[in-house]
Amino acid sequence: MCGIVGYIGHRDAYPIIIKGLQRLEYRGYDSAGIALFDGSDINLSKTKGKVEHLKKKAEESMSLKGGLGIGHTRWATHGIPNDENSHPHISNSGDLVIVHNGIIENYESIKKELTKRGYNFHSDTDTEVLVNLIEEVKKKEDVKLGHAVQIALSEVVGAYAIAIIDRNKPDEIVVAKLGSPLAIGVGENEFFVASDASPFIEYTNNAVYLADEEMAIVRLGKEIKLRKIKDDAIAYPNIMELKLNIEEIEKGGYDHFMLKEIYEQPRAILDTYRGRLNVDQGLIKMAGIDDNLERFMNADRIIIVACGTSWHAGLVAEYIFEDLARIPVEVEYASEFRYRNPVITDKDVVIAISQSGETADTLAAIKLAKANGAFVFGVCNVVGSSIARETDAGAYTHAGPEIGVASTKAFTTQITVLTLVALKLAKEKGVFPESKYHEFLIELESIPSKVERALESNALVEIIAEVYKNATNCLYLGRGYNFPVALEGALKLKEISYIHAEGYPAAEMKHGPIALIDEQMPVFVIATKKGHYDKVVSNIQEIKSRKGKIIAIVTEGDSQVKELADHVIEVPETIESLTPLLTTIPLQLLSYHIAVMRGCNVDQPRNLAKSVTVE
Ligand code: F6R
Repeated sequence: MCGIVGYIGHRDAYPIIIKGLQRLEYRGYDSAGIALFDGSDINLSKTKGKVEHLKKKAEESMSLKGGLGIGHTRWATHGIPNDENSHPHISNSGDLVIVHNGIIENYESIKKELTKRGYNFHSDTDTEVLVNLIEEVKKKEDVKLGHAVQIALSEVVGAYAIAIIDRNKPDEIVVAKLGSPLAIGVGENEFFVASDASPFIEYTNNAVYLADEEMAIVRLGKEIKLRKIKDDAIAYPNIMELKLNIEEIEKGGYDHFMLKEIYEQPRAILDTYRGRLNVDQGLIKMAGIDDNLERFMNADRIIIVACGTSWHAGLVAEYIFEDLARIPVEVEYASEFRYRNPVITDKDVVIAISQSGETADTLAAIKLAKANGAFVFGVCNVVGSSIARETDAGAYTHAGPEIGVASTKAFTTQITVLTLVALKLAKEKGVFPESKYHEFLIELESIPSKVERALESNALVEIIAEVYKNATNCLYLGRGYNFPVALEGALKLKEISYIHAEGYPAAEMKHGPIALIDEQMPVFVIATKKGHYDKVVSNIQEIKSRKGKIIAIVTEGDSQVKELADHVIEVPETIESLTPLLTTIPLQLLSYHIAVMRGCNVDQPRNLAKSVTVE
């Protein structure tokens, strides 16, 4: 939710900030803005719409000179997307300029107070209130910007990552973080600040990630100074060396990031188990589990907390953990879990799944679980993210950056990590027969090549997409391990093509949704050979007798469903628990093609943002 970028150094800040904002557009794209210090004053341009609009506006209307600047791409929370509500926001005196990602919950009362003291507001945002609060503190207390930021932030309730500059002190940027991510790139006599490392990775591999309630003064010619906002304690910056490279965050010849990321899945799954899975020795090595084996072995149950697609991966994991490791599992929407006074004990293991590692509800669920004594294990993609740091232990998915707003490779790599964990625990507990365990490892190792084969359905999927691109409603059905895949297929279609779609367990159809079926209704059914095949075939018969259009995902060589369905898409055979890794592929491709055919913005669907750092 919102991307922020800043630069201070010997280069021109403008191109760095614009390119950085384009890379961060996945975080929000309602509006964008930039402020640059040209040596004597701050120039500012901001607009509703994409960074591309900002670029045009800025290049036509302002001086682009200067080695200090901040920029913002917005996902609106307070105030509709328009020019006034866009960031950066300026304080009443014109001295201070801020960009902010997050929400200031008590901004109304602060605004009232500042209004009484004569402040004027030109936007509906909480951010404009914050910059004026900082200004008021700075004047009243007669302190420097860093100190004023510190005092002001102690008064606010909410979440933030901010970058703020002062036209009277153009050798520094002050940044602070609580709940929203903020990284500082450390170059040779230059610094970058950004919501993630993508805006600065081509300039430096060295980065400091701010922890919650930390602030920093990034000053030219000086080392970074970190402070705790509340108690003023000095913290020492931990400079990490990043492994990310620039190719990973560019489209690499694909029309959209989503398509690139769909095609990256064989590599991403391989990277997920690389170094962890040793088929010859029959071993799974995962430091986060090995070091905490007792906690897992003694767990009464596992509670999985996540949102959206990650929640769907959690549902697949529920089947895997119960089936293989015989551990009871509950899967919770993090947003519900955090507010419903759940029963949590120190015998619980909580697994938090999050691609971004920044989802506010998941983070809050983790804090609640920890406060109640549970052991919390994270499954994240983004290295160094807030969730990765907040959890007791964890395993990264190593999927590489996922930039398309619709999650694809995050889903399959999360399932891969969770399968490794379940298999490892199954073996440790001795509840899974040795021969089956070995067969499982061999099969898991073959998944990347089977995903390659599943991707070969692309041309056929495109033809099917053409047939159903104008549908207004769709149903997705699956059973067992493939019920969550049905939910995920429906979510993918909804979010990028704006077609209403619902996922159901196939057998639930009779309890209501069957009433929707007529000759207009496309029904996507996952009907792979393993697991409840005959029962799903019966469900298909029921749809056919009501003239629904059937598009079935089947196992290679299937003939029975072919007789009944309007279209079949084949995926390679595998063991039942691993089928979601294959059946989800044609459904991802289908949503992609339908969205492209409908002229939708695939990578940046309306109203969404990649990383939901507000509740
Ligand atoms: C759907 C999608 C979202 C995310 C959800 C959780 O394609 O991307 O539903 O899965 O916002 O995000 P993370 O995994 O970053 O916590």
